Amino acid sequence: MNERLPYDALFSGAIGKDYETLKLICPLATEMSRWVGYTVGHYPSSIQDGTLKVVELGGGTGITTLSILTSRADLAVISVDNEPIMQNQAKENLKEWVAARKLDFCGNDALSALRNIEENSIDIVASAYTIHNFDQAYRDEVIREIFRVLKPAGQFINGDRYALDDIKAHTRSVQKEIGGYFKVLIGENKLDVLEQWIVHLFNDESQNHVMRETAALEQLAVAGFISIELKHRMAVNAVVTACKPD
Ligand SMILES: C[S@@+](CC[C@H](N)C(=O)[O-])C[C@H]1O[C@@H](n2cnc3c(N)ncnc32)[C@H](O)[C@@H]1O
Repeated sequence: MNERLPYDALFSGAIGKDYETLKLICPLATEMSRWVGYTVGHYPSSIQDGTLKVVELGGGTGITTLSILTSRADLAVISVDNEPIMQNQAKENLKEWVAARKLDFCGNDALSALRNIEENSIDIVASAYTIHNFDQAYRDEVIREIFRVLKPAGQFINGDRYALDDIKAHTRSVQKEIGGYFKVLIGENKLDVLEQWIVHLFNDESQNHVMRETAALEQLAVAGFISIELKHRMAVNAVVTACKPD
């Protein structure tokens, strides 16, 4: 978090310009997007529901957005991201979906975007690899807003870094991950990107950001969510789903 912005602007430099390298250094991040799309595709809805309204938080360059859009036909997605370097790539990559009126973009930060949405109006709030970037206080407000905007029986679907409760095991997993960053990015001669990802990782792992499994699930329960599940755990990543009571 900086003095000017109520959120961390971590995607404006080398990372944002060369986001595709994340696929190489952290293939599980892309895997999270795939699972988010899969889970949206399996959200139970009846024909009477018509178009499902989806809000995506942290659309980035459009990897998760595309996974959501291709998961089923009955969707209208608003993709929120406050970093133009990232969102402009999504706008370019997904322009057919905008033309087909399936996709809209919002350039606000997640909390401001949610605050502008009517309560009980959204079927699904989906996200991948974004909410772990938020500091604890901002994340708490975002979770409460997600609950407010969802319709009864609406679902929150998040594929993200959910830190292991076992801190030693978690640290070992992150150390292994860092080893992979060095191997790939030195091989690609992308030392500026390597530096930025290491700096970024310190942010992710800091006490006021780390999204530890049990605490994160409790935070959802406190906000009012039910049927809270953590699935598809892969190293420090997992998909969490939670429903607003019907
Ligand atoms: C790691 S990227 C994930 C992008 C995409 N979901 C994926 O998995 O490839 C995180 C994205 O969240 C965005 N972001 C970070 N903080 C945000 C905030 N407070 N509000 C909206 N977007 C935010 C960043 O700009 C970035 O594009």
